[in-house]
Amino acid sequence: MAGNGDRAETWTSELREQQNSLSADLGPADPAAYTTRKPIPEPMPTDRHGPARIIAMANQKGGVGKTTTTINLGAALAEYGRKVLLVDFDPQGALSVGLGVNPHNLDLSVYNLLMQDDVTADDVLIKTDVAGLHLLPANIDLSAAEIQLVNEVAREMALARVLKSIRKEYDYVLIDCQPSLGLLAINALTVAHGVLIPLECEFFSLRGVALLLDTIDKVRERLNFDLELEGILATMYDSRTTHCRQVLQRVVEAFGDKVYQTVITKTVKFPESTVAGAPITTLDPASSGARNYRQLAREVIAAQAAR
Ligand SMILES: Nc1ncnc2c1ncn2[C@@H]1O[C@H](COP(=O)(O)OP(=O)(O)OP(=O)(O)O)[C@@H](O)[C@H]1O
Ligand SMILES: [Mg+2]
Repeated sequence: MAGNGDRAETWTSELREQQNSLSADLGPADPAAYTTRKPIPEPMPTDRHGPARIIAMANQKGGVGKTTTTINLGAALAEYGRKVLLVDFDPQGALSVGLGVNPHNLDLSVYNLLMQDDVTADDVLIKTDVAGLHLLPANIDLSAAEIQLVNEVAREMALARVLKSIRKEYDYVLIDCQPSLGLLAINALTVAHGVLIPLECEFFSLRGVALLLDTIDKVRERLNFDLELEGILATMYDSRTTHCRQVLQRVVEAFGDKVYQTVITKTVKFPESTVAGAPITTLDPASSGARNYRQLAREVIAAQAAR
């Protein structure tokens, strides 16, 4: 009988083979082939707002850029005159921190909104320093909601109930999910019109995406018939490495037009902006990261206009 040691060896050699075959099948890809497929129009100015398209940022893999995308796509959409509500739906409260809010000092958070009928969104809402960009903050209290909701009627609909009344005031609601496919993520998928999946440009990024897509299919069949895959966003892209380019090529082969033309480049500006508590679009408006997220905002608006 094979011991664990043998199994581990087979597993690692399989992985090595997969990685080698990735390099063997694919030439050093030209990223421009994937990133300039069709022109992206400038957004039309708008003075009428709502009802919002609700987009959940989801990937059960940690550290792929969900929170960074929520903040910076939100800020870029607001720059284009859209009214945007960001929902922190991760008990870590990283979205709140990234916008300069201390999660420990909150009297009321998304948790209270979910669990208490007498708390309204206006009680919890925070206006950020970016005009038109509002936040429903969260902190560790939210982890209790995951357990408490289990015994509730329509436990998957708790967030939908909360967003029902305020959706009409915004053009976009972006929900920052935690890295899991638990009840909170299911709540986000149940209320969302679209799911945006950030994928890190590295070898392991595609692992686990099948499970996420299965979960999206299940939610679509059982809870939210209109749920769409909004798009797949390649993040942390480093054009100097062949590996990154190859992963991008593979992602585009797998998901075709569902992959945004916009690719988010890897830069230390993002971790720095988290520490500063502001979006990169205000902190360093001319940086590549800010330009990337503005282009993504244009793609999101164009996709909405085409619907
Ligand atoms: N394009 C990028 N280039 C470099 N660093 C990045 C980039 N995007 C995000 N980061 C950094 O990577 C880390 C993880 O990003 P982020 O928090 O957005 O991921 P996440 O998917 O929300 O993580 P979690 O699953 O833990 O919620 C952060 O430190 C962030 O500043
Ligand atoms: Mg996060």
